[in-house]
Amino acid sequence: MMILWAVLGYLLGSVPFGVLISRAMGLGDLRKIGSGNIGATNVLRTGNKPAALATLLLDGGKGAAAVLLARAFGADDLAVQAAGVAAFFGHCFPVWLGFKGGKGVATFLGLMLALAWPVGLLCCASWLAGAFLSRVSSVGALVASASAPVWLLLTGRVELIVSALLLAALVWWRHSANIARLRAGTEPKIGKK
Ligand code: G3P
Repeated sequence: MMILWAVLGYLLGSVPFGVLISRAMGLGDLRKIGSGNIGATNVLRTGNKPAALATLLLDGGKGAAAVLLARAFGADDLAVQAAGVAAFFGHCFPVWLGFKGGKGVATFLGLMLALAWPVGLLCCASWLAGAFLSRVSSVGALVASASAPVWLLLTGRVELIVSALLLAALVWWRHSANIARLRAGTEPKIGKK
């Protein structure tokens, strides 16, 4: 059953909402705009805030939905985690876009909220703190993902730590170009091109 939930999670996560919303709202091909990433931060670079908000909510929602669906249908705890982690992989490596997807931040926050909502809220707060202090979205992403294992330890949800460490490592790896730009001082502030 775990394989089934992982496949369903992957398929849910692989829906590229940023690309679909941008296209539907006449904003163009998101992969040819700004950083080329398919997430809400890059949608915001088009100047269309509702489109960016919708992308954020739907990308987060698909991570949460994978977890909540697995749980609702009685999957065991490991299969529920697998569904969430697979949704993250689906976002980062969607079959529909030739496996060239996003960085997984909104999906990570969504699945974490569904797996352990206090930890999810702490991760969202960490994203807000990192992003608003630096005015840079990728800083929020790096802080939020790295903080998850700490929040899990502090709240006693140690059974989720292996998944959180895996996801944090993937978020950091997917942000390699952002980290290089941060080091060079060229990473754009939120909303800037
Ligand atoms: O959630 C993705 C964000 O951390 C970075 O996006 O477009 O600046 O690479 P972007």
